[in-house]
Amino acid sequence: MSMDVGFELGFSSLDSEVTDRSLAVEGSLPDWLDGALVRNGPATFEVGGERVVHWFDGLAMLHRFAFAGADDAVRYTNRSLRSETYREAMETGEISGQFATGGGYLQRVRRLLFGEPTDNCNVHVARVAGSLVAMTEVPRYVACDPETLETRGEFAFADALTGHVNCAHVVPDPHREETVGLLTTFGRPSEYTLYRLPDGSRSRERIGSVPAENPAYLHSFALTERFVVLTEHPFVTHPTSFLRPGRESFVDHYDWKPGRGTRFHVVERDTGERITTGRTGAWFVFHHVNAFETDEAFVVDLVAYPNADVVDGLYLTAAADWFESGGDGHLRRFRIDRGDGSVTSERLSEGLELPRIATDDRTREYRYVYAQGAAERDGNHVARVDVESGESRRWEQSGVFVEEPVFVRAPDAERPSDEGVVLVTALNTNEQRTDLLVLDGETLEERARAPLPHAVPFGFHGRYFED
Ligand code: CO
Repeated sequence: MSMDVGFELGFSSLDSEVTDRSLAVEGSLPDWLDGALVRNGPATFEVGGERVVHWFDGLAMLHRFAFAGADDAVRYTNRSLRSETYREAMETGEISGQFATGGGYLQRVRRLLFGEPTDNCNVHVARVAGSLVAMTEVPRYVACDPETLETRGEFAFADALTGHVNCAHVVPDPHREETVGLLTTFGRPSEYTLYRLPDGSRSRERIGSVPAENPAYLHSFALTERFVVLTEHPFVTHPTSFLRPGRESFVDHYDWKPGRGTRFHVVERDTGERITTGRTGAWFVFHHVNAFETDEAFVVDLVAYPNADVVDGLYLTAAADWFESGGDGHLRRFRIDRGDGSVTSERLSEGLELPRIATDDRTREYRYVYAQGAAERDGNHVARVDVESGESRRWEQSGVFVEEPVFVRAPDAERPSDEGVVLVTALNTNEQRTDLLVLDGETLEERARAPLPHAVPFGFHGRYFED
């Protein structure tokens, strides 16, 4: 196979769709694996002959991998999300109002602040009261059939909470049977609003809010048993920025202001009260790993970058340089002192992104992080980091780019065991197709592999839903 087809394949559009296709499995699946991995990500990068400028702006596609226990088969379905943005793009040949791909300026402002923001929900998925809901960074949600992935239309929560920016990473907390989420509202004052969504409900309940003079771009946050930890890094905007001409896209309205440093707001989940704000130097963050409480501190683990260059690095025109540089996000542990709010931190890993832990490790002290190891031009790797010992392991293969690895703990294994499997889609640039890999959670050895009928462009996030 040609050597010059590398990571670029991960930014190539996929328009073929298959429904409930049985994938041949090489190797064997654990008989307890009875559920489905559903992933979301951009898949259409060209509309009307023009290419979107940023990875985050491709039109959404969902993928579902269903496992049926002892049956050594994987059933695969993939569907482009038939959002309004998608249908409009197909009809008019234009795409607008995205993360970094601008439309007309006035249209953008109206869409973002006063009207209909994009519903190209390509970032994440959640289960809300029986619906599969696709999410992105503005508060519009699209409901899909959890099995066929067919688009059902706009999803509406049964409450009146509003905001201008939506944190696509909600955090389901299985110990409290609720999901916590966050909305940012621009205004005077601007604020971050935290909410809880009880399992089975469509109605969000406001927990509390944190005022923000210059709202930060908040992509995720972390939960402990009793607190929300909101990491306000210095990649910030000013609401009036959206009313001034000259900036072309959503992300252009945010600036890196390292002098502000990073603030950790700790908010009590029961009362909404902010009990402390820890301050430290400037770090940029997309993804939190986990957080927990000790007697002395709030401990927060996240993937930290020394600055916000990663945002520019993911413009499709810059991706080649980005891949060759390998990226510089690493796992970092922050301790926020419960007494005086002072913050210390230490580095826990080499370069990685898209970190995951076992669902029931959330909010608790834990041991194992699974992540996508930093890319090089020839491939990347699945990384497993033991945050207790610092030991790390990897799975890699030349010419293969893995996506976000999802760890599913074996049902009879106890926290914080690594007994279980890692489900990870991997773009094989040699074969020009994607494989679903099932790796051993402890050794990262390959247990099974199921080749897909096509190459899937690089996506973002997924969740494993038990049957
Ligand atoms: Co994310």
